Amino acid sequence: MDPMVSLRGVSKVFDGPSGPVRAVDDVTLDVARGEVFGVIGYSGAGKSTLVRLINALEQPTAGEVVVDGTRLSGRPEREVRRARAGIGFIFQQFNLWRSRTVAGNIAYPLRVAGWPKQDREVRVAELLDFVGLADKARQYPEQLSGGQKQRVGIARALATSPSLLLADEATSALDPETTKDVLDLLARVNRELGVTIVVITHEMSVVSYLCDRVAVMESGRVVEVGDVYDLFSRPQAPVTRRFIGTALHDRPRPDVVLRLRDRHPGRLVTVGVQDAAGHAPLTDAFRAHGVAGNVVFGGITEVGARALGSLTFELTGADDDVAALLADLRSWTDVTEYDADGAPVTVGEGVGVAAGVAR
Ligand SMILES: Nc1ncnc2c1ncn2[C@@H]1O[C@H](COP(=O)(O)OP(=O)(O)OP(=O)(O)O)[C@@H](O)[C@H]1O
Ligand SMILES: [Mg+2]
Repeated sequence: MDPMVSLRGVSKVFDGPSGPVRAVDDVTLDVARGEVFGVIGYSGAGKSTLVRLINALEQPTAGEVVVDGTRLSGRPEREVRRARAGIGFIFQQFNLWRSRTVAGNIAYPLRVAGWPKQDREVRVAELLDFVGLADKARQYPEQLSGGQKQRVGIARALATSPSLLLADEATSALDPETTKDVLDLLARVNRELGVTIVVITHEMSVVSYLCDRVAVMESGRVVEVGDVYDLFSRPQAPVTRRFIGTALHDRPRPDVVLRLRDRHPGRLVTVGVQDAAGHAPLTDAFRAHGVAGNVVFGGITEVGARALGSLTFELTGADDDVAALLADLRSWTDVTEYDADGAPVTVGEGVGVAAGVAR
């Protein structure tokens, strides 16, 4: 891999009021050139500190940060500033200058970089066009909606043609519809301009909509990293499972299972639905084993344009047929069965548990 960002054993320790705070703890990570990379974690996980280390707004306590082939850690400020010019940054609160027009905001980094007025005007017009705000050039930020403000933020970040764009909770202040528009714009920035993007978020939906790969952070550490679909369909860390649960609401909580139990006395199972190669559709498996399944709960969403979620069935069929069906399903997905009290039944070893990571 030819990394755009390379972190090696990076830690950042702050002096907190009650002792040292290890905000980022021994993180080793590569972001490939041209990808959209997500960093997801709950509040305080260390996400913002991690991006501030990537653009050298913070210096690491230990380890090495390399961006686009340039080592940023332990360099003189002048060199760091030059490297930072190749990195764009967008913020949750947009951080626009209220006293400057939209065009003035976008032109600002060009002014700092010493562009002549005429070139600035051409570049600003181009950027306004790209983000769909050509008619707003002379307006002031307070006359714009949140989504429009973030478009200005994106145009400003792209002004000097950075090869890397860092987005720290860039859509967290926006409603779902506007969030989707801004994410679509970021996807275009990646696809049409070839800009590598690192997206910091606490929302699984942002990751599944936009990112190629994702790192999950908890207490300063990267606990899991990988292809978005692989990671969300086979989560290993409990914190990853929590994110998926909050996004999908597909798995019945224990109190829901109890209510389902009351209404459905037959065998209750939750089956993971995923886009894994080489298996028959769920309905075919039910038919092949002569088992009927009544859907009583569930949810399926799209992650990276592939289906992911689960369905909970009440099964009707002969015991042997049901056993054969469940063994069949367990060979490629996760299956959770509930006992008479609604508690998950532990599956004996060797029944395909390796393939089914319950979550
Ligand atoms: N300048 C600082 N001084 C002291 N402690 C800090 C500083 N910056 C961050 N921290 C601490 O480091 C930890 C990680 O903070 P960080 O802002 O990176 O988390 P985050 O994942 O971005 O959280 P959020 O989702 O709330 O933005 C927190 O415990 C925070 O209090
Ligand atoms: Mg943060």
